[in-house]
Amino acid sequence: MDKMNQECYRMNNKEIYYFSGTGNSLVVARDIAEKLEGDLIPIHSVVNKERITTHADVIGIVFPVYYVGLINIPLIVQRFTSKLDEINNKYIFAVCTYGGGAGPTLTMLDEMIRARGGRLKAGFGVQMPQNAFRKPFENREKLYSKWKDKKLDSICEHVNQRDFHFDTDNFSMRIVGTILLQLMKNEFFRPLFIKPMKETAEFPKDSDLTVREIIPFIDRSYHTGGSCMGCKTCSRICPVGNIEIVDDKPVWKHHCENCLACIKWCPQEAIHGFGEQPEGYHHPDVGISDMLRG
Ligand SMILES: Cc1cc2nc3c(=O)[nH]c(=O)nc-3n(C[C@H](O)[C@H](O)[C@H](O)COP(=O)(O)O)c2cc1C
Repeated sequence: MDKMNQECYRMNNKEIYYFSGTGNSLVVARDIAEKLEGDLIPIHSVVNKERITTHADVIGIVFPVYYVGLINIPLIVQRFTSKLDEINNKYIFAVCTYGGGAGPTLTMLDEMIRARGGRLKAGFGVQMPQNAFRKPFENREKLYSKWKDKKLDSICEHVNQRDFHFDTDNFSMRIVGTILLQLMKNEFFRPLFIKPMKETAEFPKDSDLTVREIIPFIDRSYHTGGSCMGCKTCSRICPVGNIEIVDDKPVWKHHCENCLACIKWCPQEAIHGFGEQPEGYHHPDVGISDMLRG
């Protein structure tokens, strides 16, 4: 490639950054990257840099919704966004996957991107199977085919046109999320939301902690049963290196993202926590090798 072509290539380059615990967001990011001929980049591979800059003129951010109304955006994705630099001329779009509804997630992401001098130009919500618990009437096949047959093309078309576009998918959940967010800001209601998280993370009831302070400690509730073979899959798959193997058993180091990868990908289904986990859900088009940390 000569220098001019190289420059042209860079100017039109597209980068799709993603975070995923059980593969739903990875499939979405991978399909988009393939269709747009962009690069697929795991957020965990860049998030520890001091600042994140890119030559790409299109940046996609794909991630799951967590605790709608409370934090909405996984903490690792928030850290990533807060390090984006020189983004004022970029076309930035985001896709959040969710089990029930995205609430104010994309609005919140736009606020974070604006704080970095850029703007979220387009945002999309993609409903996928709920990975945190089993929804009894969920039709997973229908959700997968809705993504492949409809939504993927529509998102890529908007991005190719550099449209300014926001989904109104699940409008009612957007309202619910906004109300939750307001309640959370209220001194009276906040403790009601935080109490169950404190209990899961084994903090005393009267401790004065915020949700984002509690989340990394949710792994205190994780433990292995007798069927753990010490295979180390959990440690290799954890996107943030939060698991050490000591005496052939996982030990969690309390900088957990709550992605559930360790629980859901354990080949023995030996890890429990976060309530009890009844089944090892992961997206069927994703294998352990796709998830392993670089
Ligand atoms: C800790 C946690 C919290 C979640 N909170 C919500 C939520 O508030 N609303 C929702 O619709 N889905 C929620 N989900 C479900 C995920 O957003 C959804 O299943 C997503 O597609 C998972 O993506 P992944 O497979 O890429 O990790 C939550 C999942 C986890 C693990």
